[in-house]
Amino acid sequence: MNEKLEHSAADVTVSASGTGTGARLRADRLRLGYRSRVISDELTVGIPDGTFTVIIGPNACGKSTLLRALSRLLAPESGAVLLDGKQIGSYPAKEVARRIGLLPQTSTAPEGIRVADLVARGRYPHQSLIRQWSRRDEEAVAAAMAATGVSDLSGRLVDELSGGQRQRVWIAMVLAQETPIVLLDEPTTFLDIAHQIQVLDLCRELNRETGRTVVAVLHDLNHAFRYADHLIAMRDGAVVAAGPPREIVTAELVRQVFDLGCRVIDDPETGAPLVVPLAEKAVRTA
Ligand SMILES: Nc1ncnc2c1ncn2[C@@H]1O[C@H](COP(=O)(O)OP(=O)(O)OP(=O)(O)O)[C@@H](O)[C@H]1O
Ligand SMILES: [Mg+2]
Repeated sequence: MNEKLEHSAADVTVSASGTGTGARLRADRLRLGYRSRVISDELTVGIPDGTFTVIIGPNACGKSTLLRALSRLLAPESGAVLLDGKQIGSYPAKEVARRIGLLPQTSTAPEGIRVADLVARGRYPHQSLIRQWSRRDEEAVAAAMAATGVSDLSGRLVDELSGGQRQRVWIAMVLAQETPIVLLDEPTTFLDIAHQIQVLDLCRELNRETGRTVVAVLHDLNHAFRYADHLIAMRDGAVVAAGPPREIVTAELVRQVFDLGCRVIDDPETGAPLVVPLAEKAVRTA
């Protein structure tokens, strides 16, 4: 009996660290595209467990495409996305949804749905014929709405919210899913500065206090550098650099990725890299 227990404990350790690389979720030599258009080729990316990872890169470089592949929404043409050491496509959709929550860049709510009902949809992967709506689900929904500051909106129609309110409701839905891995595609879009910080603080809190792995695509470089433990900089469907911002961010990297001339100084508040675009000819015309 003891032996059996020890054996299963060892199995858990192996699966917690994925394939031994410390990345439960990783992409190996992916070829991604839409019909004949290739967006990424030979793309290899690891999401280090327990980090707040931020993906940056210019418009159309393939950030959302990568998140779609990492969440099983887009099947790679070749290569593999591995979740806990197994091809993600080999899991039932509901099983993936219990492990990975995705906030897509744009989502459309069903017409006439109210806030609390939309957030409650995040609990879908936890339900089955024999496991119906429970107090546990109710608590998860209430906690997610409180964390994103939308509790007061619970009875409102989603269609009638402001852009920023709606964005926070979508984030609440993903949080209610209570997955160990959370992928957020531009979670701060439409948010005013205070709500942007609130959402980023929340991501960090989720990461530090509950050990969740959080991945966010962000366009604000200074937010990215301040909050990320691990940064992935992409261009043209490829990873240009990856690592802790303080180790990899330089003016040269920003130029390489965005064709933007800048100075990189220390953020006076945190010491993280802070990008200050040059006053003249900041954007190079190739
Ligand atoms: N459903 C689709 N069908 C065909 N092409 C697509 C589709 N979705 C995205 N693309 C193309 O794939 C490329 C990468 O798009 P993607 O949405 O991944 O970029 P992104 O880095 O997320 O950009 P942004 O910062 O603007 O959100 C773009 O050229 C885009 O036009
Ligand atoms: Mg995108």
